[in-house]
Amino acid sequence: MAMVGWSVRVSVASPAAVRARRAVGGGRAVGRRGRTCCGLRAGQSVGEEPVRVVAISDVHVDHPENMQWVRDLRDDLGACCVLAGDVSGDTDLLKEALLVFRAKYGRVFFTPGNHDLWLTSRERRMGKSSLDKLAELLRWCEEEAGVDTRPALVGGRVWVVPVLSWYHSSFDTEPDIEGWQGIPPVERVMRDFKRCAWPQPLSDAADDSVLAEHFDGLNGGEYQRLWDQARAASRAGDPVISFSHFLPHIELNPEKRHLYLPTLPRAIGSTYLGRRVTDLAPQVHIFGHTHFGFDGVLTKDGATVRYIQAALGSPKERGVRMPSLEIGCIETGPVPIYDGEQGWAPVCPRARWSAYYAVNKRRPELNTELSPWAAQRYRRAAA
Ligand SMILES: [Fe+2]
Ligand SMILES: [Fe+2]
Repeated sequence: MAMVGWSVRVSVASPAAVRARRAVGGGRAVGRRGRTCCGLRAGQSVGEEPVRVVAISDVHVDHPENMQWVRDLRDDLGACCVLAGDVSGDTDLLKEALLVFRAKYGRVFFTPGNHDLWLTSRERRMGKSSLDKLAELLRWCEEEAGVDTRPALVGGRVWVVPVLSWYHSSFDTEPDIEGWQGIPPVERVMRDFKRCAWPQPLSDAADDSVLAEHFDGLNGGEYQRLWDQARAASRAGDPVISFSHFLPHIELNPEKRHLYLPTLPRAIGSTYLGRRVTDLAPQVHIFGHTHFGFDGVLTKDGATVRYIQAALGSPKERGVRMPSLEIGCIETGPVPIYDGEQGWAPVCPRARWSAYYAVNKRRPELNTELSPWAAQRYRRAAA
């Protein structure tokens, strides 16, 4: 039986972090391996290899304010920036934003989110699938933009591990909210179901776990060799940071009764991803997608991992529900995760839902009464 336990703790430098601190100062210069559109290849840094890691997800630069937020970021060539998906549904804007990040940070890691795989109507008419778009995007990142999409050792001491994933409805194992009218199915609300297209047999599969399983299988081949190295480093206590766009465990999302869209958990996470994160057991796993600020430690299936979501979200979300979105300092830039001098960044006390579940037990099976802010959107069904 799965063991689940919550806690929020103040970060204390691990023995590995202490070793890493002692090693600071030995950053190596990386030579050029050929010219690309930004003059760099994936894995190649500007000057010294950074040992600081910062992270952000869901920058959604389709919103001009968000693209400006990216352009206004201060140069931080001494840091490695993790981008946990949902940069843009527009490929040109997505690439432009990735190149801006690449110019500002010494190293950039990226894994695509659902928005990043949306197709234009023209692409759909040409018969292109979202898997074609994924393959093109990963190739462009690695070969032209100098953006990392596979596990890699940063600064010779910190493993950063992107994990490809897609959501599936059976990830949601918790009781539905009943007795209310007007709660829409997630398929009607999320645009992925119209904007993504999958090739056969994935498109014909009645069970969407086939798609999630396919994405999980993409983390194979050369990736598996790097994964094994990262896992060995994790076992040895060295710093390992993994990241995905989607959620590895349903406990990282608020209970349905607290959500404006109580059917959302059917389209947020992957149990395949969860098993990978448990297998790797990194110190930190970064995720995105739900746009809820989160910074807490979860023990599940024997793996104790600190999970962080630092989503920029849309300007409207920041205006309407900043307290549930914010973590640390996303208004001014990606949040600190790891520093070769300082160790792991302190837990952010302002991440609302992780702070809530640090003191309130998560009991979705006992309480399915909608919270007041969600209830005002729906009508009680007649008895
Ligand atoms: Fe998003
Ligand atoms: Fe997303």
